[in-house]
Amino acid sequence: MDLELKGKLAVITGSSKGIGLGMARAFAREGANVLINARNAPAVEAVSKQIANEFGVLAVPVVADVSTAAGCQSIIDAAARSGGADIFVSNAGTGSNETVAEAPDEKWMDFWTLHVMAAVRLSRGLADQMEAKGGGAMLMNASICAVQPLWYEPIYNTTKAALLMFAKCLSSEMIKRNIHVNTVNPGLIRTPDWENTARELRGDEWEQYLQEVADEHADIKRFGSVEELADFCVFLCSPRASYSVGSTYHVDGGMLKTV
Ligand SMILES: NC(=O)c1ccc[n+]([C@@H]2O[C@H](COP(=O)([O-])OP(=O)(O)OC[C@H]3O[C@@H](n4cnc5c(N)ncnc54)[C@H](OP(=O)(O)O)[C@@H]3O)[C@@H](O)[C@H]2O)c1
Repeated sequence: MDLELKGKLAVITGSSKGIGLGMARAFAREGANVLINARNAPAVEAVSKQIANEFGVLAVPVVADVSTAAGCQSIIDAAARSGGADIFVSNAGTGSNETVAEAPDEKWMDFWTLHVMAAVRLSRGLADQMEAKGGGAMLMNASICAVQPLWYEPIYNTTKAALLMFAKCLSSEMIKRNIHVNTVNPGLIRTPDWENTARELRGDEWEQYLQEVADEHADIKRFGSVEELADFCVFLCSPRASYSVGSTYHVDGGMLKTV
């Protein structure tokens, strides 16, 4: 299937590693140009060069913190200089660990700006570029925790649920401009971050730890790979998924326990 992505510009936040990097590579494999973003400058530069060399596409490096208005604006400006965005994936995010009783207001606000305001600011700013090009696609990377919480991370669960609702509201508004907005809720996706956490918790038995997590949560009894998730997301952002509007897709190996 030709995903009709050649020459399009895909803006992916948090794309220096993990899921975002996997998505950037999957878009580039389809011939799309990509905007690579994260806060760590050497990683952003290295990933951009690697993708440009490997796939022969344009890879635009933007070092920016998406939890700030200025950081979002620098991404919007860089996309405009590169011909305008066709696709936007709001991916940058991170887990939390706290109780409601002990977490201070500042922590709530930090996660709100990272998980919600980044998506608000970037979708608002990139929509004009997409409309000028005839339309586009936006994908919010929330989490299964937006609908099925893990109890050690109430701030993560709550802000990801807010992102999901934001995407639904945004989709009704944006489809009038031929911009398709959807959400993906991944389950357990094996990233270097998960592997590092496992090593910290269990040392040499880290792989066993990951297996125990998968056994407990996912019917399929394994983590998903970054590639398994990225391929799904790239299809969802392509013109081949053009009747998907305002939907939420779980890619979770059977982790969701409701219909
Ligand atoms: N892995 C999973 O099992 C899983 C499951 C469900 C949902 N998710 C969601 O998927 C997304 C990606 O997760 P991941 O596991 O791939 O995480 P990861 O491996 O930790 O990668 C996160 C990426 O985001 C960047 N980033 C973090 N904060 C940023 C900020 N303020 N501004 C710009 N970039 C920022 C990081 O680079 P810098 O630190 O250099 O900025 C990195 O490139 C997150 O939203 C996460 O909630 C993950």
